[in-house]
Amino acid sequence: MKKIIIAVDGHSSCGKSTMAKTLAAKIGYTYIDTGAMYRAVTLYALRRGFIKGSSIDEESLRREITQIRIAFGKDSDGFQYTILNGENVESEIRGMEVSENVSPISAIGFVREAMTAEQRRMGSGGAVIMDGRDIGTTVFPEAELKIFVTASDEIRAQRRYDELRQKGQDPDYDEVLKNIRERDYIDSHRAVSPLRKADDAIVLDNSQMTISEQDEWLMNRYIKAASEE
Ligand code: DC
Repeated sequence: MKKIIIAVDGHSSCGKSTMAKTLAAKIGYTYIDTGAMYRAVTLYALRRGFIKGSSIDEESLRREITQIRIAFGKDSDGFQYTILNGENVESEIRGMEVSENVSPISAIGFVREAMTAEQRRMGSGGAVIMDGRDIGTTVFPEAELKIFVTASDEIRAQRRYDELRQKGQDPDYDEVLKNIRERDYIDSHRAVSPLRKADDAIVLDNSQMTISEQDEWLMNRYIKAASEE
């Protein structure tokens, strides 16, 4: 079978990363969570005091953007985690503070340029599954398989709420739903690389699917794409 690039794009909290990770593990591909990269930049900006309320000190962030090093590691159970300048920041980047600030940070042109360049470098060898918002449209428009995942707002909010609770946090459902809707709006309306289905992407609405059904669906799409000449 051919080694291909698989782009998995779609709305926030629709299970993209779970399905992408599962397929990557089954077929021995590298999984790259590009949302985690934007989250890590946001955490960096928060820690440096570049985000104050709704205003962002873009000039300071621009000056330091090349100092932000993002990598991925794997723990002994095979779980992938995100590393920001040598530190495991996985749990911090999933918290509400980062979630509430990540959309405006990811709308900044020079942030996207830096992340896109890094993502292309990470995926250049093929055999990768990359999940995000603009992988099929901007990062790898030549990807052999493009999936666009979506689900209803309420179902996505419930999934995110359950995930945060499982991690020991105490979220408010209405806040989570509001955050998801705001992120959808900003992600789809920004000037640079907005969230948009690539013309040749296959849509997967998983609102009514179980995890194993969607895993099987994706596996079949992969087999088909990787077998094509
Ligand atoms: O997938 P996620 O929810 O962890 O992504 C966090 C944010 O990063 C999301 O609001 C949109 C942004 N993002 C992006 O703009 N481009 C990507 N390729 C991935 C994520």
